[in-house]
Amino acid sequence: INITFIDHLQQATRVQADVGTSLMQAAVDNNISGVVGECGGFCSCATCVCHVDASWADRLAPPEAMESAMLESVAADRPNSRLCCQITLNQDLEGLTVHLPESQY
Ligand code: FES
Repeated sequence: INITFIDHLQQATRVQADVGTSLMQAAVDNNISGVVGECGGFCSCATCVCHVDASWADRLAPPEAMESAMLESVAADRPNSRLCCQITLNQDLEGLTVHLPESQY
């Protein structure tokens, strides 16, 4: 499926990703610089924060408790923040667009 990452300078990068992988993996595999994914997708490092485009916000399953707790400590100030390792790609997410922060730290 196609995913679009938009960085803090509004540069859009469109990538191809496989259904079943995480959004974090898709970003790392395509050298998207705004995503670090230090913990490898275990919801424990919060270096994979992204902001889901408003048009997509209600089409994703809401964060689970552990993700919400992590987000509260790192990204409480932005709406639609998610840890992108916790978003599993499926066919319905074709065209998903997410915004990336300038830095993950
Ligand atoms: Fe570590 Fe997402 S990759 S929290």
